[in-house]
Amino acid sequence: MAILYIVFLHSNLSHARDVITGFGSASVQIGREYPISFKGFQNSSSIPKRASFPSNFIFGVGSSAMQIEGAAHEGGRGLGVWDDNVERHRATFVDGDKFSTLIEHYKRYKEDVQHLKHLGVDSYRMSISWSRVMPNGTLRGGINKEGINFYNNLINELLKNGIEPFVTIMHFDYPLALQQKFGGFLNRSIVHHYKDYCELLFKTYGDRVKHWTTFNEPTATPILHMHGIDNDAAERCQDTGKCSEAYTILHNYLICHAAAVKLYRQKFQATQGGEIGLVLQAQNFVPYSSKEEDVDAAQRLMDFTYGWVLNPIYHGDYPQIMRKLVGNRLPEFTKKEKHMLKGSLDFIGVNYYMSIFARHESNRSKMYYIDNFDALAATTEFNAEGNTLGPMEQYSKFHVYPEGLYNILIYINEKYQNPKIYITENGIASPNMTNPLKDENRIAYIATHINATKAAIDNGVNVRGYFAWPAFDTFEFHQGYSGHWGLYHVDFNDNLKRVPKASAEWYKNLLTSNC
Ligand SMILES: *[C@@H]1O[C@H](CO)[C@@H](O)[C@H](O)[C@H]1NC(C)=O
Ligand SMILES: *[C@@H]1O[C@H](CO)[C@@H](O)[C@H](O)[C@H]1NC(C)=O
Ligand SMILES: *[C@@H]1O[C@H](CO)[C@@H](O)[C@H](O)[C@H]1NC(C)=O
Ligand SMILES: *[C@@H]1O[C@H](CO)[C@@H](O)[C@H](O)[C@H]1NC(C)=O
Ligand SMILES: *[C@@H]1O[C@H](CO)[C@@H](O)[C@H](O)[C@H]1NC(C)=O
Ligand SMILES: *[C@@H]1O[C@H](CO)[C@@H](O)[C@H](O)[C@H]1NC(C)=O
Repeated sequence: MAILYIVFLHSNLSHARDVITGFGSASVQIGREYPISFKGFQNSSSIPKRASFPSNFIFGVGSSAMQIEGAAHEGGRGLGVWDDNVERHRATFVDGDKFSTLIEHYKRYKEDVQHLKHLGVDSYRMSISWSRVMPNGTLRGGINKEGINFYNNLINELLKNGIEPFVTIMHFDYPLALQQKFGGFLNRSIVHHYKDYCELLFKTYGDRVKHWTTFNEPTATPILHMHGIDNDAAERCQDTGKCSEAYTILHNYLICHAAAVKLYRQKFQATQGGEIGLVLQAQNFVPYSSKEEDVDAAQRLMDFTYGWVLNPIYHGDYPQIMRKLVGNRLPEFTKKEKHMLKGSLDFIGVNYYMSIFARHESNRSKMYYIDNFDALAATTEFNAEGNTLGPMEQYSKFHVYPEGLYNILIYINEKYQNPKIYITENGIASPNMTNPLKDENRIAYIATHINATKAAIDNGVNVRGYFAWPAFDTFEFHQGYSGHWGLYHVDFNDNLKRVPKASAEWYKNLLTSNC
């Protein structure tokens, strides 16, 4: 999902643009600019063919349970935090009335697998709804057999059609009961419930699922919490205790992640032969000017984005700059936790959409809506010379910057020891398009980002797969269906009919033609 849209509605309009791009992406100058031009895209003739990728490279497409399944109150499912949120703030969600049914993937999964097959993908990135398999989040609350069966059927249907499931264990949504009972991820006692949930999944599906990710974009939830989505009141980092809570939420995510990986490795990996990682929101922060303070600000944002999650996993603790700037509001790991965290991933998932400039800002009350926490940096759409990162695409109003993806892959590769990487999300909206089926903007976007991925591979980055986001028009939080994000259009005026867009046929062609 494009988390950028979530925050959009919660910001006031004058900030909206910065908010959107604020979730863009990031790269400190690394001395290796690459001429990967979105403007330069004419047609696919200059884009690398499938055969030029390593033979085991995976091409796929993604989704998440809470954005497509529907059947919120059916099949024994419990409520998730987003059911509650949308219900209580329905007027602020475009298409809020569709949230409990969505595109009815729960009922139409067999048909949907046929559409995926038509695309020619190797793999389908899906997520499991915790509330569907454990309705109140705990083992004591019971396991929902119907929910368990649904994912068994979906996974079997995928495999039968030659498509590998690539499963996210938690993609934003989790059982409301856990939040109401003890504050959800604010409370460390969530760890053992999360671990129970993971064990159930490994035990039930691990014979067939060979790619697991513990969390999608762990940094997004703390941000949402601060801005009143996981929570009623929106407040700014520097004004409140919410910011400290945000650090606590991420801290508990990390401990959950490490506990799940430990469990998988001890009890399942050897026999099941799969791999487990986590998915980052990849933002490329480019210095606003060549002044040292802006270069430093961009690096701080990198540390507050990638380092926040990856340093504990690589080195057992948060980046030093975070310890220095956040002080005692940043929780400590115990010795045991540090040990458990170190090395706790087999691969990194990268969700990339766009890029943003970073400028030094010492006045905390001037930092933008998303605040960038305590990084003493502000993000801006224009740099000191008045340029943007990439041209603005007319429908999405995104600044499209495939170089940002290239740069971020190089950055992660150099900083985090040449890890195995999958591009787990990459895509673009096309709101206000007269004919959403003719999504040439999406073709150009995906093509140039696949091109950037190839350039990174050619320069030694260990990228193993690329997943376009998303397969079907999905409910993108406050923007509902207005962004028409899918490779497949879903027609709400015609019984939710799925219709391949131009991009779907283009992608299929890339994946299935031999020359
Ligand atoms: C594709 O990437 C190459 C670098 O590998 C770059 O020179 C070229 O301009 C890119 N083409 C497009 C259309 O993005
Ligand atoms: C595709 O674009 C190239 C320039 O990149 C151009 O030479 C070629 O004629 C184009 N092909 C088609 C079919 O439009
Ligand atoms: C879930 O249900 C069980 C059994 O009814 C109960 O003991 C437990 O407190 C519930 N948990 C939550 C988080 O509501
Ligand atoms: C955390 O959850 C436990 C129950 O598991 C509860 O006793 C405790 O009060 C909760 N702590 C907070 C800060 O809510
Ligand atoms: C910081 O910014 C706020 C809001 O613009 C302003 O009121 C305040 O005076 C600034 N503080 C300093 C020290 O510049
Ligand atoms: C789409 O159209 C609506 C209504 O005209 C407008 O408010 C919105 O800004 C447009 N969105 C984009 C991304 O152009």
